[in-house]
Amino acid sequence: MSTVTEPGTQATTDEQPPTEQAVVEPDEAHLREGAFGHAVALSCRECGHRVDLGPFYACPECFGPLEIAYEFPAVTREEIEAGPRNIWRYKALLPVPSDIEQSPNMEPGFTRLLKARNLGRELGIDRLWVKDDSTNPTNSFKDRVVACALSAATELHAKVFACPSTGNLANAVAAAGARAGMKTVVFIPSNLEQPKKVNSAVYTDSLVAVEGNYDDVNKLASEIAGEEDGWAFVNVNVRPYYAEGSKTLGYEIAEQLGWRLPDQVVIPVASGSQLTKVHKAFGELVKLGLVEDKPVKIFGAQAEGCSPVSTAYKAGVDAIRPVKPDTIAKSLAIGNPADGIYVLDICKETGGAVEDVTDDQVREAIVLLARTEGVFTETAGGTTVGVLKKLVESGQLDPSLETVVINTGHGLKTLDAVSDRVAPAATIAPSYAAFTDAGIV
Ligand SMILES: Cc1ncc(COP(=O)(O)O)c(C=O)c1O
Ligand SMILES: [Zn+2]
Repeated sequence: MSTVTEPGTQATTDEQPPTEQAVVEPDEAHLREGAFGHAVALSCRECGHRVDLGPFYACPECFGPLEIAYEFPAVTREEIEAGPRNIWRYKALLPVPSDIEQSPNMEPGFTRLLKARNLGRELGIDRLWVKDDSTNPTNSFKDRVVACALSAATELHAKVFACPSTGNLANAVAAAGARAGMKTVVFIPSNLEQPKKVNSAVYTDSLVAVEGNYDDVNKLASEIAGEEDGWAFVNVNVRPYYAEGSKTLGYEIAEQLGWRLPDQVVIPVASGSQLTKVHKAFGELVKLGLVEDKPVKIFGAQAEGCSPVSTAYKAGVDAIRPVKPDTIAKSLAIGNPADGIYVLDICKETGGAVEDVTDDQVREAIVLLARTEGVFTETAGGTTVGVLKKLVESGQLDPSLETVVINTGHGLKTLDAVSDRVAPAATIAPSYAAFTDAGIV
């Protein structure tokens, strides 16, 4: 494996395009047959140019982002239903080998889809579902993408499994690498929430806290990827494989609804990758004849303190102007989102919208979801539920349509966000009299 420098390459990462493209050379001799399942090439999202499968992420013609292109076999609902209760039930639709279940991995996915009657009643939405990804092995949806990245890193014989992260990704990479017996190095902004630091450091001795924001961390990761041999940065040089993992959220929503698509979905946006992949998943299911075609409105959710995509949406412009994040929703704090323009396109095309909420609305929504549905979400989920509420109130979202809101992470990782809002109702002496005096019921 070696490093190839292509000056001026505008590769797509979660942040600024790096000035050079990091490449772990695919060793053809060692790339085994079927290493990437039914994937046949990498295809440029901008110009359609195709390159061979390998650790590439930027188009050599126009520097646009590369995506996985497949030749899918016929896949039936029954085959999928007979698969394991994790993302590998959809392995035929992912860039992974057919024996993926045999390699040690975190087995994420197939999380619950909860009918949210109480929250629905509160918000005036007739049919509302919460897709609860906080129950994944490291308590965020990132376990899905990391499982696909781990497979690619393994097939490409990478020596180090790494990432720049806003927190959850670092947790997922550190854990998956430990389980796979791979060296991990994870980079985070030094001001991250303490639980997210501990949830990485417990799995790896190489958690690196960088003095800067996520965009600085990402720039550093791109530089390291350009200098070091054999590093698989999940969201940099194996990003096309990694990103495909988010499609499984879309597949599961459709399968758990009884093999049909919802009318609308609300999804948090940091880099924007997840939103674009859930949308892609719905399209693939239709093409494969697994669900009936129907319009699905896609809505994006951001926090006001880091809302470059919703700002562009509201201004009616196509270009995303990078921002310096300042929000409690640190997991969504990407000021220069790689897939922002695609999020804009999808939300506009499908009749959805991109909206943002204040930090206070994020906190309020965390408590609202907890008290109505018994689901404790982190600030990203507070953002998404807060945006859902705002979209209904502003008339941008039709409450008579069947709606899914995605909860992508767990509240125990961002306790500080609500710790001054929720507390014991009373502290009392251990006596019945003290209890009745406290006026709790
Ligand atoms: C909990 C949580 N939700 C949502 C996202 C956004 O994901 P994406 O970068 O794919 O937009 C992140 C990203 O770090 C996250 O940690
Ligand atoms: Zn191109």
